[in-house]
Amino acid sequence: MTNIQSPWRSDFPALSKTMNGKPLAFLDSAASAQKPQCVIDAMNDVLTGGYSNIHRGLYEISQNLTQSFEDVRKKIAQFIGAQSEKNIIFTRNATEGINLVAQSWGRAYLKAGDEIIITEMEHHANIVPWQILADQIGVVVKVVPVTGDGLLDLDAFQSLLSDKTKLVAFVEISNALGTINPVAGIVRMVRKYNADIKILVDGSQGVVHRAVDVTAMDVDFYVFTGHKLYAPSGIGVLYGKYDVLDSMPPYQGGGDMIERVSFKSGITYREAPYKFEAGTPAIVEVIGLGAAVDYLVDNSMDKIAAHEARLLEYATEAIQNVAGLTLHGTADLTQKAGILSFTMDNAHPSDIGMVLDQCGVAVRTGHHCAMPLMEMLGLNATARASLAMYSEQSDVDALINGLNKVNVLFG
Ligand code: ALA
Repeated sequence: MTNIQSPWRSDFPALSKTMNGKPLAFLDSAASAQKPQCVIDAMNDVLTGGYSNIHRGLYEISQNLTQSFEDVRKKIAQFIGAQSEKNIIFTRNATEGINLVAQSWGRAYLKAGDEIIITEMEHHANIVPWQILADQIGVVVKVVPVTGDGLLDLDAFQSLLSDKTKLVAFVEISNALGTINPVAGIVRMVRKYNADIKILVDGSQGVVHRAVDVTAMDVDFYVFTGHKLYAPSGIGVLYGKYDVLDSMPPYQGGGDMIERVSFKSGITYREAPYKFEAGTPAIVEVIGLGAAVDYLVDNSMDKIAAHEARLLEYATEAIQNVAGLTLHGTADLTQKAGILSFTMDNAHPSDIGMVLDQCGVAVRTGHHCAMPLMEMLGLNATARASLAMYSEQSDVDALINGLNKVNVLFG
């Protein structure tokens, strides 16, 4: 078999480092991805030769940076297939995007007894904001169960839809299992039932692993975070259909989101998306996100997806040959992204993580911010190896060697 290598590996300086004296095998990209040199350079360039606040300065540096900042909004719109840059709100992360929808749209348009449908495989970011809203105004949160192999139970999903359903919110790709949910089919099912139900998709993993077109998806809201997309932390995106955004009140108040503030005549707000961006934004991080998106477009999301699919196939076969190992999330590989969650008979996930650390292999262990899913699986934790565009066979081989060592030490 040929050795699966990544053509993009050398673009990521962190990957040439060692950990505990071993070559670094970074398999925790679902938690946060490494950054390519072009992202680091773009941020460094702003900080060393063109930094100022934006939207507020009449001088050249500020005007230039404002232009670059707003250009990123256009790039993001194109990258995810939005109709216009006016659909794009910069947030701190995906979590803030969902909280924004819950507190702005949710509090404005929902009342006690209205129902929100989420799923058992959601990240806490797509559970807790709705539960907070339930505590605040009495909406009811309904949960779609997950099957043993880690798929959404679509019949149960259909049967949860009712006259009271006002929103469905679900993840595109599970961060804990790697399952790719059938977004198009779910949207069709919901729209057919009632075209007025709003649909929110958590694309935190989706946008990383495949090309996204939010207009074709026909969702009302789509959220993602920069730091998993090879961009810095502290920056995320909320996409919204414009008429929906336009109808929503501001989420936070402050500078830059207003047209006028007067103690005599009151406050008026800017139009969407600007009315949702109070205060000085994450300027340098937005520039970094723009550089990451340029990099991904240049290298083609389809090529990246094909590379990861090949490596996932190799990794899935190899990991299932490790004695005493159980893979959680066994959807068909055509419905899975590069995320492998597993437990071992002989060792707790924390022990697995510690042995792998000594082998230079970085994985995540724990509940992956998906405690209800762990509860359903009857587990407290799993170990999770996650692949990215820069991952290659050597990383997977280091993982397998480490897991065999776990068996020697704990077996
Ligand atoms: N949500 C991140 C993960 O899946 C942190 O690890």
